[in-house]
Amino acid sequence: MIHICRRERFNAAHRVFVEGWSDEKNSEHFGACSNPNWHGHNYELFVTVKGEPDPLSGYVIDLKVLSKIIREKVINKVDHRNLNLEVDFMKGIQPSTENIAKAIFHEISPLIQKQKAVLHSIRLHETENNSVEYFGEFA
Ligand code: NI
Repeated sequence: MIHICRRERFNAAHRVFVEGWSDEKNSEHFGACSNPNWHGHNYELFVTVKGEPDPLSGYVIDLKVLSKIIREKVINKVDHRNLNLEVDFMKGIQPSTENIAKAIFHEISPLIQKQKAVLHSIRLHETENNSVEYFGEFA
């Protein structure tokens, strides 16, 4: 079993908050990420796919194909966008790093299966020091 990883980057705005709470209470719970006037992050996304190398190509998945899937299903939808307001797969979801990683996993997993490979994990860095990794529901 081989793991292969593709990195992509995107910039996006968000606000993590609970509707109905005061700005003060949101600020206490979520800090700078609850700024009522939005703010942005330079996200770094690592998509890891696993499988056995194809006998002919030697590839687990063609990285050009993987990059295209990530670009079309994720990057084109989130880059320079507001995650609270503009991204179809984040509708009604609190845009924490955890939830963004989960949503991305479920967005692209079926397309990777079509390539006869398995999505192993989504690792998403919100800052240099803070990141999450999601392995799917049954990991
Ligand atoms: Ni934030």
